[in-house]
Amino acid sequence: MPELLQPYGQAFAANPYPTYARLREQNPIFHSEEFGLTFFTRYRDIVNLLSDKRLGRTMSHVMGPEEKTERHRQEDWQATPAYSRFVRVNLLESEGADHARLRRLLAKAVDARRIGGLSQRIEMLVDELLEGVVDCKEIDFLAEIAVPLPVYVISEMLGWPAEERHRLRPWSADIVRLYEKDHSEEDVVRAEAATEEFAGMLGELAELRRSDPRDDLISAFALLESDGEILNKDELIASCMMLLNAGHEALVNSAGNGLLALLRHPEQGRRLQRDRSMMKTATEEMLRYDSPLQFFHRFVLEDMSYGDFEFRQGDKVGLLYGSGNRDPAAFERPDSFDIGRDPNRHLAFGLGPHFCLGAPLARLELGILFNKLLRRFPGVQLVDEHPEYRTGLVFRGLKQLSVRW
Ligand code: HEM
Repeated sequence: MPELLQPYGQAFAANPYPTYARLREQNPIFHSEEFGLTFFTRYRDIVNLLSDKRLGRTMSHVMGPEEKTERHRQEDWQATPAYSRFVRVNLLESEGADHARLRRLLAKAVDARRIGGLSQRIEMLVDELLEGVVDCKEIDFLAEIAVPLPVYVISEMLGWPAEERHRLRPWSADIVRLYEKDHSEEDVVRAEAATEEFAGMLGELAELRRSDPRDDLISAFALLESDGEILNKDELIASCMMLLNAGHEALVNSAGNGLLALLRHPEQGRRLQRDRSMMKTATEEMLRYDSPLQFFHRFVLEDMSYGDFEFRQGDKVGLLYGSGNRDPAAFERPDSFDIGRDPNRHLAFGLGPHFCLGAPLARLELGILFNKLLRRFPGVQLVDEHPEYRTGLVFRGLKQLSVRW
């Protein structure tokens, strides 16, 4: 039987939503040999599974020591020692007691007090970025605004040196490439090299901050690590890497996808210009309508059934958040972009134990960015109505987004 989902072509990248609609209608749950998992496309099923304790992002917490050693002996762990040490065991890839402990720690790092205190700084950064392009006739919104903003914000929070900021984006891009199923051997080599360099620099920085702490997260984590019991050295590096990457990767794409949606629906843009109090619901709608992260998997931790489907321990399920966000059973007129949509219980930030820790920061950055952009450049418009998206199933984002005013 041909694969029902073939996500790595340009047509799917341009618009995956008709495929998702057809699948929700005709094959809402289906097994894929190629991906080695069972896909779920409907909102209700995705919500149920994300809330189900019989599923997890990893199996390691239910494995015995021998199974773990065996897994680490496997070829794909051996081929990428740095990636396996720091990326495969970060907060997002942990479960159970380790996840709870790391999440408590990281939650303090991005809690409401810290985020609230960042507002003014983000406003300043947005002002500076917009001021920098005021005399340009045309810009790539991604390169000039959407990339630098979250990279600056998360670097400052962590205390990552300004002169090394330019490294973060390429490292992150190389590392997350392995999340996509169509990655090549060369991608594996690049991801490993990026992780090695990134981890090396973080290790050095943590040493420096331990002896000379500042008011930043790397210092805070380094002091916790000195304590020994709460955080070990690998976790310190993995956590900082995770925050630096997660802190900008999806934000870049949500700003790009969001602006594109707004400019392709000029009546919604005018509505927002008339009533800025709609900014909150508008940003949620941007996140739902064209989510920057569209797919995540879970492992089945114990034999279980779901509806008519039987799963064995170790099976994998694939949850298409991007499809759930367009499910007519959950959202009225799901293919309409409606900046006033409320309630809007979208899945762009996930759900359950791994719900995005950075959601308050992401919402703050997006709100400030769009508010200031529309005020400063009320006549902003697309240069090209159909900019190209990158191919991918997990990440959804544009190659570039040319705009003028
Ligand atoms: C619009 C921007 C963002 C989007 C759409 C987004 C989306 C997500 C999603 C969908 C997940 C869950 C993955 C899963 O279900 O397996 C997640 C997890 C996470 N996100 Fe975000 N994210 C964004 C911004 C941020 C920012 C700014 C930060 C950091 C400051 C961040 C930090 C994290 C962390 C640490 C996790 C892992 C949580 C855990 O495993 O317990 N994210 N994010």
